[in-house]
Amino acid sequence: MTPWREEAVLAEGPLFRVSLASDESGCRWVLKARAADVRDDPVSALRLEKEARILCGQSHISGIPRFHSFADGVLVMEWLQCGSLLERAEKVACEGRSVAWPTRVARWVLALSQTLQELHAEGIVHRDVKPANVLLRVEYEPALIDFGVAVDGPAGRSLPRPWREDAVGTPGYAAPELRADPEAAVDPAIDVYGLSATAYALLHLRRPGHESERSAPVPNSGFGTLLARGLSPSPQDRPPLQAFIDELSASVGQRTV
Ligand SMILES: Nc1ncnc2c1ncn2[C@@H]1O[C@H](COP(=O)(O)OP(=O)(O)O)[C@@H](O)[C@H]1O
Ligand SMILES: [Mg+2]
Repeated sequence: MTPWREEAVLAEGPLFRVSLASDESGCRWVLKARAADVRDDPVSALRLEKEARILCGQSHISGIPRFHSFADGVLVMEWLQCGSLLERAEKVACEGRSVAWPTRVARWVLALSQTLQELHAEGIVHRDVKPANVLLRVEYEPALIDFGVAVDGPAGRSLPRPWREDAVGTPGYAAPELRADPEAAVDPAIDVYGLSATAYALLHLRRPGHESERSAPVPNSGFGTLLARGLSPSPQDRPPLQAFIDELSASVGQRTV
């Protein structure tokens, strides 16, 4: 019998159902399980298993949800209570941005760059970095969620044979090479693109479109130049994450929020 008492459904997508539940002592956790319609689908099972493997194996990385357990097809993890960066951006788009908004974005992007660097050092590429997949633990502690299409390990594939990845990533945030061939695209530069697209979307309050229709990201700033390079169609033209860390640590350190 499950020890969980479900309190609310947080999200119900085509593949996964995410709910908030409390344990016997009243502590709240988030449960992620396959949606009823895909209960017999091996691909969603493999994706959830991989997500559990990554959260469990990388528990030393603070910028991802804390792992509780994975049993009977249910992944139990930390409840990140302060909403997503997408929700923040939507709110700011409605209410208008304050002068502090670019600095807040810079602080989130700095923390995300550090988390991605730690993941890459472990051979993990997330491949779906976007504002909806970044939740806040507290105001300036973003955590990257949703490792369903990540690649982990030297095999460099997100699904074992005989399954194939057909479409991976989210339009506007996925690097061109990932859209072109998800099976071949396993390079960390994919996350530099997703990170840059996320930062662009937060700063401009709209999803980055095709290169030709993009407005120049934050002109005359080191951050703007980095974003433009991070959104390069060619992976080899994108800067390393360390460039984001160096630039943003210097700039957020100089400003007050
Ligand atoms: N640890 C968590 N804490 C709070 N909410 C979460 C957590 N994990 C997922 N969610 C909620 O569930 C939604 C879907 O989760 P996600 O892992 O992104 O699944 P999907 O693969 O369906 O996109 C998220 O956008 C968020 O609203
Ligand atoms: Mg998601």
